[in-house]
Amino acid sequence: MEISARAAQMSPSLTLAIDAKAKAMKSEGLDVCGFGAGEPDFDTPDHIKAAAIQALESGFTKYTPSAGLPELRQAVADKLQADNGVSYRPSQVIVSSGAKQACYNAILATCQPGDEVVIPAPYWVSYPDMVRLAGAEPVIVSTTERNSWKMRAEDFENAMTPRTKMLILNTPNNPSGAVYTRDELAAIVEVAAEEDIYILADEIYEKLIYDDAQHVSIASLSKEAYDLTITINGFSKAYAMTGWRLGYLAAPEAVAKAVDSIQSHSTSHPASFVQRGGVAALKGDQQPLTDMREEFDLRRNYMYDRITKIPNITAVKPQGAFYVLVNISQLGLTSTNFADRLLSKANVAVIPGAAFGDDRVVRLSYATSIDIIKKGLDRFQDFCRTL
Ligand SMILES: Cc1ncc(COP(=O)(O)O)c(C=O)c1O
Repeated sequence: MEISARAAQMSPSLTLAIDAKAKAMKSEGLDVCGFGAGEPDFDTPDHIKAAAIQALESGFTKYTPSAGLPELRQAVADKLQADNGVSYRPSQVIVSSGAKQACYNAILATCQPGDEVVIPAPYWVSYPDMVRLAGAEPVIVSTTERNSWKMRAEDFENAMTPRTKMLILNTPNNPSGAVYTRDELAAIVEVAAEEDIYILADEIYEKLIYDDAQHVSIASLSKEAYDLTITINGFSKAYAMTGWRLGYLAAPEAVAKAVDSIQSHSTSHPASFVQRGGVAALKGDQQPLTDMREEFDLRRNYMYDRITKIPNITAVKPQGAFYVLVNISQLGLTSTNFADRLLSKANVAVIPGAAFGDDRVVRLSYATSIDIIKKGLDRFQDFCRTL
């Protein structure tokens, strides 16, 4: 059977390929240290689980509105006002099965063949393929380590053409851990506003932020920013709920409506009882989040300090998320080659930057225990010295 041209242009996930190899090695009994994780190694807090269990036990097992439960949409709107300083009505909030689906729906609702979408690299692995699925074209803008892996307004301006429809900006950033400042964002918004370019603001890591970095929501910057921005967020990272598949977007009314229509004909709403868990996450005790963030911070400092002591590799100290991006370009290997050899020779799994549109780097996740981080970094260091 022939597959569609749309499906044929999808690239297989490099991230999953490395993960599959690491798992296969583990199942053979090898002691593999995994730095590939894209999810917190913490469990979902008990009060969130209890809310979902209670929903199931009380028979809350039927369809909900496709855009999500009214109380969850209200809780999200309240959160966006309280935490982010942005006013959305619940009708502007669409709850989806993960931030991933929210991003995809938002792109489908706004982009079409002939459109270009600007994506700073290194980027989250799925953005370019989502853009291609919508029939639009990704335009990748490289960033530099010197600039802390952040795109400057002038880089954005240089990448723009009359076909530019959207910019995807992810702060705090996966994979670099970069956090854009208010001024940096304001300069980018100014460029976008001149040509009415949408901004997909992926803020899923907003709660995982360190030192004196501050998360600024793009939609909060000005009325112009608000009118152009689709804010993406979710529960996976902040509340350790990756497997629950729950995320959301908030957007100008017309976009929210279009997203609701798309979702109502594709997947409908996320599972009913999962949404009750989401309400408990937003309204309940936030201490587990604080505790998790503190633990991540300790690991971040440890990992960064160790990496900066290894000759011929460099890193910028990440200010957010749970990754350290390591520049290996002085070692003379492509990122895929480096990751392959590191895994087979030293039993350490990292994600090659090729997956993120930058072959100079590899990504190490510290969403794993400090013991594994110590052992894995010992091996990583020895491996780098052999090159
Ligand atoms: C930048 C970024 N956006 C979105 C997502 C998707 O998150 P979710 O699990 O809510 O679909 C991820 C997950 O890795 C991510 O790193």
